[in-house]
Amino acid sequence: MKEQISVEQALSQAFAHLDAGRIEQARKLARSLESRRPEPQALPYLLGLISLKEGQGKKAAQHLSRALAKTPDAVPPMLAMARAQIQQNRLIEGITAYRRLLAVAPDLAVAWRELGDLHIAGQDFAAAAMPLRRSARVWTALAPLRNNLGIAERASGNPERAAEEFRIAVILDPSTAKPYANLAGVQRKLGQAGRAAEFAVRIAPEDAACRIEYGQSLPDEAAIEQFAEAVRLLPDQAEPHWLLGETLVRLGRTDEAAVTYDRVLSLDPADSFGAQLALAKLGQSAVPERASAAHVSALYDQYAGSFDQDLLGNLDYRGPEVILDGLRRAGIAGPCDILDAGCGTGLAGLAVKPLARRLDGIDLSEKMADQARARGVYDSVAVGDLVPEMAGRSASYDLVIAADVLIYLGDLAPVFAAARTALRAAGHFAFTVERGEGEGYTLQPTGRFAHADSYLRRLAGETGFSVTLLEPTVTRREKGDPVPGLLCVLSRP
Ligand SMILES: C[S@@+](CC[C@H](N)C(=O)[O-])C[C@H]1O[C@@H](n2cnc3c(N)ncnc32)[C@H](O)[C@@H]1O
Repeated sequence: MKEQISVEQALSQAFAHLDAGRIEQARKLARSLESRRPEPQALPYLLGLISLKEGQGKKAAQHLSRALAKTPDAVPPMLAMARAQIQQNRLIEGITAYRRLLAVAPDLAVAWRELGDLHIAGQDFAAAAMPLRRSARVWTALAPLRNNLGIAERASGNPERAAEEFRIAVILDPSTAKPYANLAGVQRKLGQAGRAAEFAVRIAPEDAACRIEYGQSLPDEAAIEQFAEAVRLLPDQAEPHWLLGETLVRLGRTDEAAVTYDRVLSLDPADSFGAQLALAKLGQSAVPERASAAHVSALYDQYAGSFDQDLLGNLDYRGPEVILDGLRRAGIAGPCDILDAGCGTGLAGLAVKPLARRLDGIDLSEKMADQARARGVYDSVAVGDLVPEMAGRSASYDLVIAADVLIYLGDLAPVFAAARTALRAAGHFAFTVERGEGEGYTLQPTGRFAHADSYLRRLAGETGFSVTLLEPTVTRREKGDPVPGLLCVLSRP
């Protein structure tokens, strides 16, 4: 008769089989243990690991719950449970499981790394920074980890740290293109020269992202070739065509640029790059009535992280103060219900907060709206276009403000009409625009619109407003020079 091996021996052999990838042998031993009474304590964990290796996350989670019912704080089944949740695509449950595990085992580098990579895979790059930093303390020499940490640092607004991580990643693995391209990207943003993009293209000449990065580091004459290659590699994506078009414009090759912009528009009909405005600036199409919603939201989603610093620090932005001063001089005092249309990160909301009984914000850009919410001065912040949003909030406000927002809209008739709808009787609409010459509105070389005094007056009359204040002002500088603007306060009967 065959002698039965002990439970301990069977378990240790089964785990060894699993480690070596011999799942069938491990399963056989696990089966032989299933009849033992009392049930061996480590058996549910073993069964959980087997199911996990077989890609059966749901079954694994069932076994592991039994294991954790016996030993709730045991690290190996907790880690396996987190992995089982991820295997089932249960991301929230997975993240919760990693957090629970890390509360018990705060130095477990593997769990920090898997949690960080999970955030990277979910494109929540900033959330990956802390977990990846923790794991990089232990795994100092893993190139993919340092590259992901660079991505996380970049998304957290730490470009210098990101550059350092990408630099370490390329030293650890000089044969992979992506960390070079990433390094080149942050160096470009930091205004640092380098050859990283060139190395990326040498390693991966068929990678369009590397071509694009290299093109952006080169003078226009040489960049053309890189963007043309990117277009060849990704003919159905708008970005390489757009970059090619922008470069052709700077080189004065406007006819070719116009053809390229047409292609951008056909690939991206929502027009997130602003190709319609670009064509109009070239005189190749009529001036559109406004910037597309997709373009404004893409622009400000990119800008959200550095907006406050850039506007207040570099551009000397005074829009909120100008509006507040205009309101005071027009005799508008609180408390009142205010809508901040195009609220951005909330700078204007902050300025008018002392007048507010209720303060709501609207913005096209989700990332700007997130920043406005985080400021904590608004009762609500909605993501949407101010025209339909205002039109849908009939007689809800005493004051609507729009600081430095209407520069993205040429034809203001729909805006005035919607603001009038959103206002209660005797309400006010206060805004700033860039000041245009002559009649009507014009599209400027910057891609923003300028409006003439006479246009604002005429439209106010046509939409049932009286003009309480309309005067020249300056809300911003551009390349050091003041940008001529207008402050306008309209009032409805
Ligand atoms: C220059 S920022 C000004 C932000 C804010 N008003 C301030 O004074 O700081 C312009 C903002 O207007 C938003 N915006 C532009 N057009 C919009 C529209 N049609 N509907 C809603 N928001 C818009 C942009 O997304 C951006 O956040």
